Amino acid sequence: MFSVVANWKMNLSISEARAYLELFFAHHPPLDKIELLMAPPFTVLPYLSTMIHQNRFKIASQNVYWESKGAFTGEISPPMLRDLSCTHVIVGHSERRQYFLESNEQVANKARAVLHAGMIPIVCVGEDMLAYKEGRTEQIIKSQLALFKEFEPVWIAYEPLWSIGSGHIPSSQEIAKANHTIKAELPQCRVLYGGSVSSQTLPELMKVKPLDGFLVGGLSLKPLEFCTFLQELAST
Ligand code: 13P
Repeated sequence: MFSVVANWKMNLSISEARAYLELFFAHHPPLDKIELLMAPPFTVLPYLSTMIHQNRFKIASQNVYWESKGAFTGEISPPMLRDLSCTHVIVGHSERRQYFLESNEQVANKARAVLHAGMIPIVCVGEDMLAYKEGRTEQIIKSQLALFKEFEPVWIAYEPLWSIGSGHIPSSQEIAKANHTIKAELPQCRVLYGGSVSSQTLPELMKVKPLDGFLVGGLSLKPLEFCTFLQELAST
């Protein structure tokens, strides 16, 4: 099934999340056709985990630390996320690489720990604007994936940095090429696209093959627009 991961980033309190979900589900998102994963901030995970019995969505974390316990002040471990019903964990989002200086090695440590705890890592890769203009997308993706060859199951999200929050996306041919590069490196992976996914970009994005899902940021914070988007996606 096509997967859509809603990355809320550092947004929504518990009460805002409750209001969001009420509105969202009142508009009947097509969950028989789309596998939906919500990735809220850590503070909202306990609340979402109480709703998991309704079986309407899965829960992903936006980040994790690689040790399972110990003196790592402020960190959250894979077993703690498992405890809160997480099935997937986003690792190596470009915002973490950029603002928190996460290296490929650290991202690989996180993904390994996620797998060890019985969850699926969603590893983010992608080039910045300069690399895109210089035609180095393939080279960047290959270097970012070098440590992930043996990982299974694993989802790879291709998110060009310049596309995140900009309203601009690569052409469907460029995304398809990136996805082929990813599949050639890691034939076992599922491949997602992220970066300005919206009703406006959907027609171009639907031309991309192979494609197993989307990683959605800004749009996923607007319950009605997000629901409409999922309905459009389900009817394509
Ligand atoms: P936008 O959908 O807001 O461009 O964000 C993409 C993203 O970073 C999802 O992880």
